[in-house]
Amino acid sequence: MCGIVGYIGYRDAYPIIIKGLHRLEYRGYDSAGVALLDKEMRVYKKAGKVSDLEDFVKGIDTSGTIGMGHTRWATHGAPSDRNSHPHSSGDRKLTIIHNGIIENYNVIKEALLGKGHIFKSDTDTEVLIHLVEDIQNETGLDLQEAVRVALNRVIGAYAIVIMSADDPDMVIAARKGSPMVIGVGKGEYFIASDATPIVEYTKNVIYLNDNEIAYIRRDDLLVKTIDNTVQTPYIQKLELQLEMLEKGGYDHFMLKEIYEQPRSVRDCLRGRVYPQQGKVQLGGIKEYSDKLKNVDRIIIVACGTSWHAGLVGEYLIEEYARVPVEVEYASEFRYRNPIITEKDLVIAISQSGETADTMAAIELAKEKGATIFGVCNVVGASIPRITHAGVYTHAGPEIGVASTKAFTAQVTVLTLIAFYIAQQRGAITRNKLIEYLTELNEIPDLIEQTLKTNESVKAISEKIKDSRNCLFLGRGSSFPVALEGALKLKEISYIHAEGYPAAEMKHGPIALIDEEMPVVFIATKHSSYEKVISNIQEVKARKGQVIAIVTEGDTAVRSMADYVIEIPQTNEAFVPLIATIPLQLLSYHIAVMRGCNVDQPRNLAKSVTVE
Ligand code: M6R
Repeated sequence: MCGIVGYIGYRDAYPIIIKGLHRLEYRGYDSAGVALLDKEMRVYKKAGKVSDLEDFVKGIDTSGTIGMGHTRWATHGAPSDRNSHPHSSGDRKLTIIHNGIIENYNVIKEALLGKGHIFKSDTDTEVLIHLVEDIQNETGLDLQEAVRVALNRVIGAYAIVIMSADDPDMVIAARKGSPMVIGVGKGEYFIASDATPIVEYTKNVIYLNDNEIAYIRRDDLLVKTIDNTVQTPYIQKLELQLEMLEKGGYDHFMLKEIYEQPRSVRDCLRGRVYPQQGKVQLGGIKEYSDKLKNVDRIIIVACGTSWHAGLVGEYLIEEYARVPVEVEYASEFRYRNPIITEKDLVIAISQSGETADTMAAIELAKEKGATIFGVCNVVGASIPRITHAGVYTHAGPEIGVASTKAFTAQVTVLTLIAFYIAQQRGAITRNKLIEYLTELNEIPDLIEQTLKTNESVKAISEKIKDSRNCLFLGRGSSFPVALEGALKLKEISYIHAEGYPAAEMKHGPIALIDEEMPVVFIATKHSSYEKVISNIQEVKARKGQVIAIVTEGDTAVRSMADYVIEIPQTNEAFVPLIATIPLQLLSYHIAVMRGCNVDQPRNLAKSVTVE
């Protein structure tokens, strides 16, 4: 959940670390800190954003060619200066930054308190660095060994970087359950939670595996497991481009990412869809084609927006591949005793590929013998490594905390998976596939067209921006779109919003409707059109304000709704890919008008690597 950056080499570490922390701020922005090592260790930290830290260190000596930095999403201990990372050992010689949770920190802390350790923060992280210090004091082990022994004693998840004033030519990095990338330069190494702080310096990276510790010197890297087995690290080439990490002239990353969707969906389809042959090709799951012919049931596990994409996937897979699908919140699934068999296929969806609940659900399903596919965006993240096979969404880095282009890319991949399974099982004819795939290939252009609604969506946003509540209603696969619209609005504008299947309104939410209540309908001309029209009338009869997403040229809904947003005609299967766009724009504009921090909404972080 937190972002970590480290550097060892010949350049000034501080500017590299600060720039990297800005790139990782999507992971948490409760506090930030740096440690720089020259002849001595200097630690500067501050509650607030990375820019607050920068203001704080202005005029202070930030020299040093070895250092590390941290941007925090608070778990143990409130956001404050003293709980900010880095944390130090009692003798101040050792310093640590940490992403994750040390679950047994309390037991260790009690023991260390008994030995006279004094803690300055409420964090689990500080306990870990005191444990390393304690092991060194008690056993006389060198730092490398002491860290390894300490990591064998902790339970939980971590990505850590440790520096020692006694060894100013070494940085130690380790991971278990939290991501860590090492950039390999000439006479220098970079360490980060993801590749974004590294890409402008080197394209050569090593993704550290769980239970690995890297001992990094300026011109030497040694990787061992925590069991002390030397590893041969695999150096990969980054495909990330620097421009992908910039706002590119947009006011916010979220807006840029909304506008990137024609491109991201196109990238997602590229090389996978062959309309003329009526064929879908998914290299990542090809090996499992036979499994797909016999699979009894598909369970989709995910959280948040990815869960909404999963719900769209359920409609598509059941409709076209005719396999029963269940969609589960990963956080609930893992704590039940779900019935899973070897004949089940579990599809885990995650933009970040790091969500702790989704990872735990995968591990559980794996233990029970299911085959697991991942649908992830971040290449090399943890989920693609722990699943049997998978399909990347190729949306490119998503930096805005509110997910936009990742959602449409996930839905695109699930559409492809639905057709792929249908193809393997003979559940769809070749002619039908030709028809669908031809239309699917046009979706990027239709998204482009839909983005032209921006000005009218902005005008509607102005009208409803001061509302305290908002309802989003849709039927069929537009129901998850309604859920997603509501989530977007609440997370970035802090307006209370709920998504419901339109027909459920009369079973309760209708009681909320009065002239103050905007109700957003997805009312395109598809199977439940007439029913949705009835629901619109029910809202109008109670003086609610209706905002309707309609199919181009619609007149019936226009005559009843207060505001309409027209989207291009498309096959019902692809409506979620189009109808979502104006909802993203609506929440964006409302949040901007309300003066909210669109890219970094309060209390949230992009990857939720804690339970
Ligand atoms: O990285 P993941 O897709 O696993 O993340 C899941 C959710 O945390 C995420 O979708 C969250 O709901 C976003 N803030 C939605 O905009």
